[in-house]
Amino acid sequence: MRILLGVGGGIAAYKAAQLARALMERGAAVETVMTRSAREFIQPLTFASLTGNKVITDLFASGSSDQDTLSSAIEHIRAARDNELLLVAPCTADLLAKFAHGLADDFLSTTYLAFTGKVVLAPAMNVNMWNHPAVQANLATLRQRAGHIIVDPDAGYLACGMTGPGRLADPKHIADVAVQALRRREDLTGETVLISAGPTQEPLDPVRFISNRSSGKMGYALADAARARGARVILVSGPVHLPPPAGVEMVRVRTAVEMRDAIIGRLPESTIIIKSAAVADYHVANVPAQKVKKTAAKVSIDLDPTPDILAECGRIKGDRILIGFAAETQNMMQEARRKMEVKNCDMVVGNLVSQEGIGFESDNNAVTLILRSGEVEKIAEAPKREIADRILDQITKLRLAAAVHE
Ligand code: CTP
Repeated sequence: MRILLGVGGGIAAYKAAQLARALMERGAAVETVMTRSAREFIQPLTFASLTGNKVITDLFASGSSDQDTLSSAIEHIRAARDNELLLVAPCTADLLAKFAHGLADDFLSTTYLAFTGKVVLAPAMNVNMWNHPAVQANLATLRQRAGHIIVDPDAGYLACGMTGPGRLADPKHIADVAVQALRRREDLTGETVLISAGPTQEPLDPVRFISNRSSGKMGYALADAARARGARVILVSGPVHLPPPAGVEMVRVRTAVEMRDAIIGRLPESTIIIKSAAVADYHVANVPAQKVKKTAAKVSIDLDPTPDILAECGRIKGDRILIGFAAETQNMMQEARRKMEVKNCDMVVGNLVSQEGIGFESDNNAVTLILRSGEVEKIAEAPKREIADRILDQITKLRLAAAVHE
């Protein structure tokens, strides 16, 4: 494991030394890049001593000859090529802005642009800076970018005397995230992952429909994560306001019946099926051709059940791995287990959608993975992209277990 550690300028720069040590303990070879302001907080010699590698500090180091200057000018390309992961900690507001917008005026920012592998960013800053819309917009851009993982700061007492989010996450945790990100590389190569995402819309007439609050974010995060891990991904999506993840085959649908046809049609070519869509359970079987007009009388709508797509997949899945979701407002564990049995899933992802800040529409989620074997993994609140990788980690374990039984 070859990790390029970028150190930004902030009080937390000294913790980057602990991080370098934690990475080495986990078996990584670490090369360090320090920004000019990082060197105001900590000496390059600290990192050189810890990692046993020289520390890169300048884009144009003044050499004794033109040849020296040239080799230092292309050093960022070499650093980008020779390392498997770029980890920036502490990642300042300035670095987030540079990365989000592609500015390249020093060694770290030019290396970032030249780097094609996974990027882990661990921000740290004052709480008001963290909460500023400009910083949050840059973070949102970077969270969406393929291959990027943000390790959010902890909340607590900050060096500036204020309290709130902004403190660099625990260096051991950052090291674990970085090492896991490297280990996950390409472990779904050869798999075709079929994912359903978003809500469905069930028309009542030409202008009205029944739907639900699903944003599709969890399913899109799963598609992005599976693609990053080498899978071919087919994403069957209900109507959502999200950009399609790069490198994913999109199938856009509107109703439960359209989603059923798309999923069952693509099931034969898939090896893993993840049903994260919030499918409407009822629809109007015969939608009127004209808009229904208002009258003074009460109305009632006659609804028929929609096809249960997951249950149908469960009946015909063969040895494919089938993952269902259970969005509940109560009795999550019992309901998830019941759905796993009834719909013949290998795993159910249970989430309580009644909690503020997680679940529907949110960027974060907190889920419980319930496996057929009886194993249960609780995943605390985290960005959906991180949750997606944890779900895929369990799927790769299921795949390995199935291979052992063959
Ligand atoms: N599902 C499906 N087709 C449906 C309804 C649900 O494929 N018509 C799938 C969802 O994609 C999800 C799982 O079934 O993976 C559970 O969905 P959920 O709405 O939680 O459960 P329901 O089976 O609809 O049961 P209930 O509404 O009673 O909770």
